[in-house]
Amino acid sequence: MESILEVKNITKIYKKNKSKYFTNKEYQKAVNNVSFNINKGEVFGLVGESGCGKSTLASIIIRLIKDHEGQIYFEGKDITNYTEKDLRYIRKNIQIIFQNSYASLNPKKKVDWILRESLILEKKLSKEEKNKKVDEVLDMVGLNQTYKNRYPYELSGGERQRISIASAIILKPKIIIADEAVSSLDVSISAQILNIFMELKERLNLSYIFISHDLNLVNFLSDRVAVMYKGEIVELATTEEICKNPKHDYTKKLYSSQFTI
Ligand SMILES: Nc1ncnc2c1ncn2[C@@H]1O[C@H](COP(=O)(O)OP(=O)(O)O)[C@@H](O)[C@H]1O
Ligand SMILES: [Mg+2]
Repeated sequence: MESILEVKNITKIYKKNKSKYFTNKEYQKAVNNVSFNINKGEVFGLVGESGCGKSTLASIIIRLIKDHEGQIYFEGKDITNYTEKDLRYIRKNIQIIFQNSYASLNPKKKVDWILRESLILEKKLSKEEKNKKVDEVLDMVGLNQTYKNRYPYELSGGERQRISIASAIILKPKIIIADEAVSSLDVSISAQILNIFMELKERLNLSYIFISHDLNLVNFLSDRVAVMYKGEIVELATTEEICKNPKHDYTKKLYSSQFTI
């Protein structure tokens, strides 16, 4: 199988705020020597409790955080030391969707503007071509054209997440990182969004990194699952193996905690 993304020996240490209100440790290892490989077309689940380092790892992959140890390979190329200019192609190809999409959608702009803004680097596209792309992605996320005239505050949580997805896919990326993307939605809306993710996977040949604190959710979507605990990956296996035979104590705990919450 062909690798789309590989992370190798990733370690990230945050320097702690020196304020007396923080613990006396001066630094914190948020990610500790993490390595894995994702194949083309794969859904890779990353699960672990809040604070275990999932979002830090995602920020490293999308090259938002660069002061870390270890390497990142995209389609076999080492992109760790890419300059901002080199990263344009990578940024187009690796898109991220967060839990709080409200924060990432410009509140003063209508959906039409927001989606066009995602195309800002596609300078060769004419106005008509941009229009067509906006219409296309809205259709793909199941929203009609009237949504173009709405502001983010005029959308429900599920609709806002659909717009975030539309904005992520408009550049035809190869990887989508969904970081707790359905965590704040209620169950039925969350199921609709998960369906959209899976439809788009087939339609656009996507690979996913699906991040959540919810092991059952991750299992439902993923081909393989990495269990993260205190910055480390403590178990990595196919979803089937994780379900049938969780090896690490922490993975077992994640299962049992899902039923007691
Ligand atoms: N910018 C930052 N500065 C200092 N510490 C941070 C920063 N971002 C995250 N952390 C800490 O790093 C750890 C991992 O955080 P995070 O990657 O957000 O975990 P998760 O996404 O799994 O909840 C947490 O203990 C968090 O407090
Ligand atoms: Mg997080």
